[in-house]
Amino acid sequence: MTAFDDHVQASAKLISERGGPHPPRVAVVLGSGWGGMRDSVTRAVDIPYAELPAFPEVGVAGHAGTLRLGMIGGVPVAVLAGRQHTYEDGRPDAMKGAIRTLAALGVGMLVLTNAAGSLKPAMGTGSLMLVSDHLNMVQRTPLHGEPGSQRFVDLRDAYDPPLRRIAHAVAARLHQPLHEGVYAWMLGPQFETPAEIRMLRTLGADAVGMSTVPETILARHAGIRVLALSLITNLAAGLDSEPLSHAQTLAAAQAAGQRATQLLAAVVPALA
Ligand code: HPA
Repeated sequence: MTAFDDHVQASAKLISERGGPHPPRVAVVLGSGWGGMRDSVTRAVDIPYAELPAFPEVGVAGHAGTLRLGMIGGVPVAVLAGRQHTYEDGRPDAMKGAIRTLAALGVGMLVLTNAAGSLKPAMGTGSLMLVSDHLNMVQRTPLHGEPGSQRFVDLRDAYDPPLRRIAHAVAARLHQPLHEGVYAWMLGPQFETPAEIRMLRTLGADAVGMSTVPETILARHAGIRVLALSLITNLAAGLDSEPLSHAQTLAAAQAAGQRATQLLAAVVPALA
């Protein structure tokens, strides 16, 4: 057993001990704007990432670093508030320990949420987008060093079509418009140039952000089904005259956060 495996086992053990009788079935990673969804968790037990050796150290303003266990609509869930981004220290496998721990606990579905810029003027600030596919523009992998043929992960339908159908049905029931499109992963932390955004549009991207893709790859490698949702916090660089900043992202995320978290809290139990 490697130290990494030890950390995963120790994290899974602590979560099982603290989390009560029902192991989580669905896990959620909360990005900017999605944090209010934690309030929908009943019988909540919080564990700081700092107590879970396989979990990352998280630093970015607006991201906590707490695992919340509990129930949503009768379904046992694990909600991860806080993620480590590849741009923080250059490691695309920053979330590997956390996602392996979820797999060790038997989690079958992972909902990844993020804030993103829109490449489509018709999908404006405050819109919600279901990710249908991604472009790994960073061309880095969280699977570096993985042994065996399992590392050659099939990413067709990485964003699980049946889970996407459920999300659309829930959005329709709530009368919430839900776009669907391709998410391009850019490393950041700098925002894109207008020329890069024109490139991404040409390549078929609908939204751009700095997370999610390595987590999707890790989850698919671990056999976990993935759903991903973007909260559009701005039109991407060059599409309007608004200057881009992290403060603007957080302000827009907060403004649209209630709708986003309401949809998410309804989608999660519908998946199980
Ligand atoms: N680009 C990259 N990441 C983002 C953006 C953007 O415009 N908005 C929110 N996250």
